Amino acid sequence: MAEPFVISPYLPSRRATLAEGQPISELMSRALDNPGLISLAAGFVDQETLPVEIVRDVMSDLLGNDVEARAMLQYGTTPGVTALRESILDQFTSTTSTREALDRVVITAGSNQLLHLVAESLLDLEDIVLCAAPTYLVFLGTVANLGARTWSVATDDLGMIPEALEATLQQLARSGDLPRVKAIYLVPYFDNPSGIMMPSERVQRIVQIAQRWSHKTRIHVIADEAYRELRYVGEDVPSASEFDEDGETVIVAGTFSKSFSPGVRVGWGILPEHLVGPVCAQKGNIDFGSPNFNQHLMAEVLRRDLFTQHVEKLRASYHRKLAAMLSAADEFLAPLEGVTWRRPTGGLYVWATLPPRIDTGPAGELFDRSIVEGMLYVPGQYCYPVEGQPVAKNTMRLSFGVQSCERIRAGIAALARAIQAVA
Ligand SMILES: Cc1ncc(COP(=O)(O)O)c(C=O)c1O
Repeated sequence: MAEPFVISPYLPSRRATLAEGQPISELMSRALDNPGLISLAAGFVDQETLPVEIVRDVMSDLLGNDVEARAMLQYGTTPGVTALRESILDQFTSTTSTREALDRVVITAGSNQLLHLVAESLLDLEDIVLCAAPTYLVFLGTVANLGARTWSVATDDLGMIPEALEATLQQLARSGDLPRVKAIYLVPYFDNPSGIMMPSERVQRIVQIAQRWSHKTRIHVIADEAYRELRYVGEDVPSASEFDEDGETVIVAGTFSKSFSPGVRVGWGILPEHLVGPVCAQKGNIDFGSPNFNQHLMAEVLRRDLFTQHVEKLRASYHRKLAAMLSAADEFLAPLEGVTWRRPTGGLYVWATLPPRIDTGPAGELFDRSIVEGMLYVPGQYCYPVEGQPVAKNTMRLSFGVQSCERIRAGIAALARAIQAVA
């Protein structure tokens, strides 16, 4: 008689196992389970300011000519649409768009994809990326998913501290781990989650430190500029890439998600020449080119100067929301003992610190109590690298992008009630 037919159980791959337990999915499901909640958690952009009219007009013009429209609706190339790459250089760098400069720009499906491709191109198992404490939680997952390590460097109100970075590199040299350090990850403009704007002088010093310590293995600086355009006070400052004279150290990750539309999801990388081949090879294996039509859309939006006009409108709207959150914090959180928060001048986030005895994580009392009171925040502990600095469990990220000014105020009032209840 034939053996009974038995199907083996599914054994997840190493990557699938490493991807488990992402806080982002857990947070989204908590929000969806409680639709009445005022979510100050999601880093989504303001629904009201999404550029519906601009996209409608430009799309209908782009589709006006059948031959051109068909080309746009076809696959494109792996590095992306040339006109868009030229406009990105013109708009965001001081570099003239020579052939060489253009070759270093790669368009991706959002900057998360660029971060992913860069991580794939730089990191082997057990390699290390140095990050601020705290830092962008999705990037922590990207690194962990490759079996590589994230290591935090002490951070103050101006971002990663150069002296602490030196001390960390010395420590890793002593333990024999220095050759594993492949990159330093920074979010220099209005960081997610801390809201910090790093002064240029500090960014420059970090680039110099990376170069000085690159004697055996090259240490790249990944400058994630996702929030560069969301500045509400003062003037723009130069990108980290301006401090990298030979262009071999700094990797810039940019995106139109926050400044235009995450639904269009166009991002880019400006890469050292030696990384263009590896990044495009990885991309070739994934999608051999980001959505072509979306790239043409963005190229046209930039060509007509509609992007700059849109960003002006966005800034005004987010500035009002930031002011609403800060004044609600002054009103409801200031009276609570030991509660402090940063006052950012851009971006989408306010970083708050509670008394050390209050655990803001899902295991602590405050998280559930906040849901009962009607609001949701991102526990700060999700934003800390695995090794290095201790995790500050009494912190949280509050987003002001999505909700109206009234709901921001109500959300902060609910948070204050929750803190009082568990204090
Ligand atoms: C710091 C940072 N980098 C990158 C991204 C990725 O954005 P996208 O992939 O939509 O370009 C985000 C999104 O929230 C972010 O906060």
